[in-house]
Amino acid sequence: MTYRLSSLTYTLKLLRSSYRVFPPHNTAQLINTSSALRSHGGLVVHRDTNENNPDTPFEFTPQNLRRIDTILKNYPDGHKSAAIIPILDIAQRQHGWLPLSAMHKSADLLGLAKMRVYEVATFYTMFFRKPVGKYHIQVCTTTPCMLRDSDSIVECIKKKLNIKMGETTKDGMFSLAEVECLAACVNAPMVQIGDNYYEDLTVADMEEIIDTLAKGEAPKAGPRNGRFAAEPVSGLTTLTEPPKGPGFQVRSDL
Ligand code: FES
Repeated sequence: MTYRLSSLTYTLKLLRSSYRVFPPHNTAQLINTSSALRSHGGLVVHRDTNENNPDTPFEFTPQNLRRIDTILKNYPDGHKSAAIIPILDIAQRQHGWLPLSAMHKSADLLGLAKMRVYEVATFYTMFFRKPVGKYHIQVCTTTPCMLRDSDSIVECIKKKLNIKMGETTKDGMFSLAEVECLAACVNAPMVQIGDNYYEDLTVADMEEIIDTLAKGEAPKAGPRNGRFAAEPVSGLTTLTEPPKGPGFQVRSDL
């Protein structure tokens, strides 16, 4: 009975954690609505705004066009469309976020239907379809991070910056987005800011990272609990001695 109750409590916590923003009418509606709105990419469905419409000025710089040329050479004829992610990434790095017009330019470069580019840009949270802060904090709240208390990291960021999920601070310095697994689960909880991962976080770490960025300095990226990477926190448990070499434990008559 105890097991069943704790299992039920755990399931409810998962549901509450995943779907806590909007009360459900039905599950499908709830998943679609909450995941779309909580991502900083905004609604999956595009609505023209003053800052983001097909006429938003955007041209690749000559330097970036040369970069794109080089990238395209990596792909054989007939498969150039596979370059869409690096090309959108270049567009975003140039502009700071990814307006509709940049998606159209990228589609034109590859001879793709615009819809093919929309499909990519709306799927990956790495593409920001509305302006973000200079430091865009993407916090993972998927199960391993949630179990390692990513909720407290989210609350810390919201409180410290006085913003809600999906918002940007008034000075344009910080923005906050909730994202799905960023593939650093062994170092949960973690956030991504720019190109850096900050891992094994505590609330104190998160505060220090924000304070350091606010001063214009670069906080230390990677694990914050003393680990070098993702090795066991308590020390190595395997591969602790030199390899035995060829023939180890092989029958001598073979
Ligand atoms: S669950 Fe957070 S990085 Fe995988």
